[in-house]
Amino acid sequence: MNIDGSSALVTGGASGLGLATARRIIDRGGRVVLADISEEQGVKAIADLGDAARFVRADVTDEASVTAALDTAQELGPLRFVVHCAGRGGDRTRIIDRDRNPGELTTFAEVVRVNLIGTYNVLRLAAARLSGNDVVDGDRGAVVLTASVAAFDGQIGQTSYTAAKAGVHGLTLVAARDLASWQIRVNTIAPGVMDTPMLGRLREDIRDGLAASVPHPKRLGEPDDFARLAVEMLENPYLNGQTVRLDGAIRMAPR
Ligand SMILES: NC(=O)c1ccc[n+]([C@@H]2O[C@H](COP(=O)([O-])OP(=O)(O)OC[C@H]3O[C@@H](n4cnc5c(N)ncnc54)[C@H](O)[C@@H]3O)[C@@H](O)[C@H]2O)c1
Repeated sequence: MNIDGSSALVTGGASGLGLATARRIIDRGGRVVLADISEEQGVKAIADLGDAARFVRADVTDEASVTAALDTAQELGPLRFVVHCAGRGGDRTRIIDRDRNPGELTTFAEVVRVNLIGTYNVLRLAAARLSGNDVVDGDRGAVVLTASVAAFDGQIGQTSYTAAKAGVHGLTLVAARDLASWQIRVNTIAPGVMDTPMLGRLREDIRDGLAASVPHPKRLGEPDDFARLAVEMLENPYLNGQTVRLDGAIRMAPR
């Protein structure tokens, strides 16, 4: 299924991996709705992307705003593609602290709510739309979700983020099986350390250390590295039910 002439929903599209993916989709002749909670970033992004992009302020955990974003995407053209990038970092909480007090439950639940429940919310609402498409080149639609290498090598303090992202990995095959009868493919990218605003909050020396710890290439991932794989996942008809690590062969240490 070619992207050319179709429309796509990109959540978290106002920044980082989502924005780079929107750019690639537009380069291939697609139209894009950026769904993001950040209005400021979203407005900047569409000014940069031009006429083929629209911004809808949407929280991925909220049914009404995701529905509005899907409506707008369907107005732009046949909606065949969804790339779900919206997410937040973890809470860096130990299971017990130095004084043996148990870790925070509230922030754990919030990280799981945004990263995992938000993913399922986008998946279910988008699949309902994609299932109404005609079959083109064997598919009615394709979805790309975003996990993290933390799904596999979570570090100390990452219980909430790891639980959420491992959940995204876990549901990938189930979703591909479940939606197979509708000819909708579902794949997931598990990025390593990518150079986006999410990582930009780290100190320079920590970023340099992370880049040096990547076996090859010895650098942080570029958002466009993600975008290239996302577009391949959307278009390649035989890629389904798979989580692909995109990480320069990094394996995270316990801390
Ligand atoms: N950058 C990395 O190193 C890295 C590594 C592994 C996984 N990831 C994952 O990649 C995805 C994209 O991250 P990024 O690095 O591009 O970060 P980013 O901060 O640049 O972009 C994330 C975007 O998601 C939006 N967002 C957050 N919560 C939202 C919500 N509830 N509803 C709608 N939008 C929301 C933010 O406003 C932001 O624009 C995330 O799921 C993140 O967990 C990133």
